Amino acid sequence: MIKVAMFDSKPYDIDSFNSLKGDNIKIKYFETKLTEDTAELAKGYDAVVVFVNDDVNSAVIEALTGLGVRLIALRCAGFNNVNLKAARDKISIIHVPAYSPHAVAEHALGMLLTSVRRIHKAYIRSKDFNFSLNGLTGFNLNGRTMGIIGTGKIGKVFARICRGFGMKILAYDIYPDKGLDVEYTSLDRIFSESDVISLHCPLTNDNYHIIDQKAISAMKDGVIIINTSRGSLIDAEDLLEGIKSKKIGGACLDVYEEESDLFFEDNSGHIVHDDILARLISMPNVLITSHQAFLTREALENIADTTLSGITGYFERGELTNEVSYEKNKKK
Ligand code: NAI
Repeated sequence: MIKVAMFDSKPYDIDSFNSLKGDNIKIKYFETKLTEDTAELAKGYDAVVVFVNDDVNSAVIEALTGLGVRLIALRCAGFNNVNLKAARDKISIIHVPAYSPHAVAEHALGMLLTSVRRIHKAYIRSKDFNFSLNGLTGFNLNGRTMGIIGTGKIGKVFARICRGFGMKILAYDIYPDKGLDVEYTSLDRIFSESDVISLHCPLTNDNYHIIDQKAISAMKDGVIIINTSRGSLIDAEDLLEGIKSKKIGGACLDVYEEESDLFFEDNSGHIVHDDILARLISMPNVLITSHQAFLTREALENIADTTLSGITGYFERGELTNEVSYEKNKKK
């Protein structure tokens, strides 16, 4: 029997993992996130399953290896929350490279439409029988320029969707895909010519705060920024300044720099101490969802299926499918 400790477990995770798990795996679901303080809970388990905001730093890796844990299975694509160097030669790591690029791309487009057509405002108004249209004027996406940063699995689907709306697409990727029917260009041109900019690259050491005050000042007035990738791609303070000065026309954020203590949880009865987030939320042209872009039935099923077969493959056949390692990542 393979014993697995799953951290930051939510009811929808428990449902999908329980429905697909075989008799060879026993899972203990912990609500708490994996941190230095909670790593001890993994005692007696062969593997841990973690998510985007579990903090897999060097101390946590040290603690897990000391407890005899042999595998860290990320039930997500991104692995910026794992210290790969510290894990080298100590513990194996796998992830779910793709579970539904459509889920994320469709959510990004959903946020964009909601924002530019003010659907979030109209919804609240009509609940109160306020059928006035004043202040709800949007703009057509057709004919506008979409700047896509990162044209991997999600960026590609997003480009296809945007093309369906009749948008012109400019793209920037450190590894352009020559077979893709988009116009690759410099980051500078993306900034200066795009009406909407959408981030679909992973967070790496090279692109931390790729959207900062300098980038924002190079953008078109009224630009809409979409981030469904990772919060730290955007300097949230600079974004807020851009919104306050009306340089930025709208922000659609599914991720936020300091999300780890807030997102995925009900904080409605609490005083939120993050003044930047509170101010962003108060803005009429900022739309925030709580790292929700992945959350479709199809994606949850794929996440559970890939994670469970990765764990079984590792412990029963010595395979490392979808491995994430310092070496592999360094080469990129
Ligand atoms: P992918 O690995 O298929 O594509 C990423 C692309 O970004 C690659 O083409 C790569 O060359 C490019 N890239 C890397 N560094 C770059 C840089 N500095 N500038 C421009 N391009 C760069 O990844 P995928 O599946 O498309 O996912 C993208 C990101 O979306 C993930 O890394 C993750 O952070 C985020 N994500 C968010 C989810 C959510 O629920 N909000 C769910 C799943 C992924």
